[in-house]
Amino acid sequence: MRLFLDTANLDEIREGVSWGVVSGVTTNPSLVAKEGHADFHGFIRTLAGLVPGPVNAEVVATEAEGMVREARALAALGENVVIKVPMGKEGLKATRALREEGIPVNVTLAFSPNQALLASLAGATYVSPFLGRLDDVGHDGMQVVRDTVEIFSLYGLDTYVLAASIRHPLHVTEAALAGADIATMPFKVLEQMLRHPLTDLGLERFLDDWRSLEQARPAPVGRDARRGARRS
Ligand code: G3P
Repeated sequence: MRLFLDTANLDEIREGVSWGVVSGVTTNPSLVAKEGHADFHGFIRTLAGLVPGPVNAEVVATEAEGMVREARALAALGENVVIKVPMGKEGLKATRALREEGIPVNVTLAFSPNQALLASLAGATYVSPFLGRLDDVGHDGMQVVRDTVEIFSLYGLDTYVLAASIRHPLHVTEAALAGADIATMPFKVLEQMLRHPLTDLGLERFLDDWRSLEQARPAPVGRDARRGARRS
C-alpha cells in the first residue's frame, strides 16, 4: 500500500515527503486553481523534483488528440510525471495512444468497476475510483474499490487501483483492507492518520515521569558540587 498526497500545496507536499511516508502526489485542475499556480508547467516541474515517486498532472483538453498533445508536454517535465486523463471515450482513446508511447496514465473520475475495467483494458497504469464523491451521493464508494480490486485480481490486470477522493482516516484503512494499491488523500487526512489520543497521553506520561526522576536525582557532592558552585 502506497500513500499519495492529493494536493497542489507545496508546503504540505514538502512536509508529507519529509515524514518518509508520501511516495507520490495527485493534482487536478481544481486543486491547482485553488493554490493559484498560473505557471502550471513550472509547478509540475518543481513537484517532479520534490516527490520521490509519481506526480500526477491532469490534462484539460476534451478530445483525445488534444489530451495526447498536452500529455506529451507534461511528461517531458519529469520522468516521474503521470498523466491524469478523464474517464470517457476520448479519455480511453488518449490512454491507448499514450500507452503506446510509453507515457503512464491515471484514468480519473472513475465511479464504477466497469469504468475501471475499461481504463485497464485501454492500458492505464493507474485508475482512480472517487470513493468520497460516491459516498456523498448515497452510494458505497468503497464497494467500487473492492469490486475493482477483485476484478483486476481475477483477470491478472496490472493496473494499480488508486483510491481517490478520500475524506477521512477510516477511508484509508478500508481502502487498504480492500486491497487498493494506493490511497491519495488531502494533507489533513494524513495528519489525522498520525494522531491517537492515547499516543499523546502516553508521551505526556513518559515525559512527566522522566522529569520527576530528574528532580529526585541526588544533588552533587564534593568536588562536583564545588565545580558547580564556581560555574554559577
Ligand atoms: O484528485 C482527485 C480526488 O481525490 C478529488 O477528491 O475530495 O475533490 O472528491 P474530492
